[in-house]
Amino acid sequence: MNEKGLFEEEIFEELNCFSNSDSNFRKVLSSMCTVPHPIAVKAYNQFIHSNIGDPGLFHGTAEMEKHVVEMISDILCHPNPKDAYGHLTSGGTESNIEAVLHMKNRYMIFCGDVSCNNNHSAISAVPAASTTPAASTTPAASTIPVVSAANKLNLVLPKTAHFSFEKIANLLDIQLKKADVDSNFRVIPESMESLIDENTIGLVGIAGNTEFGEVDPIEQLSEIALKYNLPLHIDAAFGGFVFPFLEKPETIGFDVFGVTSVSIDPHKMGLSVIPAGVLIFKDESFLNLSMDKIKVKTPYLTSKYQSTLTGTRSGAAVAATYSVMKYLGKEGYKKNVAYCMDLADYFQKELQKINLRPYLVPRINIVAVSVGSYEKTNQIRSLLLEKYGWNVSAAKTIPALRFVLMPHVTKEDISLLISDLKELLDSEI
Ligand SMILES: Cc1ncc(COP(=O)(O)O)c(C=O)c1O
Repeated sequence: MNEKGLFEEEIFEELNCFSNSDSNFRKVLSSMCTVPHPIAVKAYNQFIHSNIGDPGLFHGTAEMEKHVVEMISDILCHPNPKDAYGHLTSGGTESNIEAVLHMKNRYMIFCGDVSCNNNHSAISAVPAASTTPAASTTPAASTIPVVSAANKLNLVLPKTAHFSFEKIANLLDIQLKKADVDSNFRVIPESMESLIDENTIGLVGIAGNTEFGEVDPIEQLSEIALKYNLPLHIDAAFGGFVFPFLEKPETIGFDVFGVTSVSIDPHKMGLSVIPAGVLIFKDESFLNLSMDKIKVKTPYLTSKYQSTLTGTRSGAAVAATYSVMKYLGKEGYKKNVAYCMDLADYFQKELQKINLRPYLVPRINIVAVSVGSYEKTNQIRSLLLEKYGWNVSAAKTIPALRFVLMPHVTKEDISLLISDLKELLDSEI
């Protein structure tokens, strides 16, 4: 570090250099984030000092966070948004970590030490994940395959789940049991069910998987969750601000009875600033199962308890999210999604002109396109960047280029990209 401080001008000269090496989202079709809405930026700056981790000092921000949670619960069709419990996080990864951590705590409370051979009590003794009679039905022991009690706790989720779950497995010392997907990359419910055993702490479904934008059959996953009395977390980090605003909206939230928590990221299709994720639980009951673990007493702060994974949290991100949601309203988000879906439509038409087509009819604004082997796909991806400056990504499940058509993309960009792609494909690389 320099001994003496620099002049402001010197610093900003340096900053400009750093900023010039950053992307401004021009020619970026690989990212699930976008340029934040100007309203969000303005609000962010106004609340730059606010720490929502110490809400007693920031009553106004705390109030705004409540409104954000309520508005998002409404988008997610919560039957009574005021009953939902939630908060802002740094994004989908943190929301997913926290959701699974609560699942683990819930399991441990009702099952205790897994090393003691409790056979099926793990599932049968856990309280209802929700409150219908169906939810508390204890499954017949014969329906649950017996596994060695020495096995790790596990989470059952689709093969297509985001890589944040790999981190979660390591962090929480749980096993990921990955269910098969169908030809549309939607999880097969029977495969999910077959993986459940006495050590299962919960299920995950995805609304807008990272590679293809597909949505899992959430109602069927909910039935399975209720049958085995397991919590069901929906990772709608990307799709949360898309599916509810499609011309034909898709059910991804709390109107499906067995859904117990949802992660949804305002910093993706919500047009807020980074870092703005939101984790919502159906109600506060989960939280109380994590008493003294995640919900801890906070003697040095202005509040009695803190229930979030992180301590200090950005109040500015809360203000940004509140403002952009209020400013756009549902109508604004519908327009935003319609714009992106129009791009997806245009992209398909342009692809046809060069004899390519999407691997799947895009469900949302993510399009995968096969251009050959994994090797060729990676080569084209690299050349698109090196020769033409396009940032696109590649799927991992199949060899395909992956394009995310975010609000910063234009039809002109797409036409240019397609013409560059054609030139590369014609050049017999
Ligand atoms: C489905 C899904 N879940 C979680 C995440 C992680 O979100 P973040 O990068 O904000 O932590 C992503 C990111 O792309 C995602 O697509």
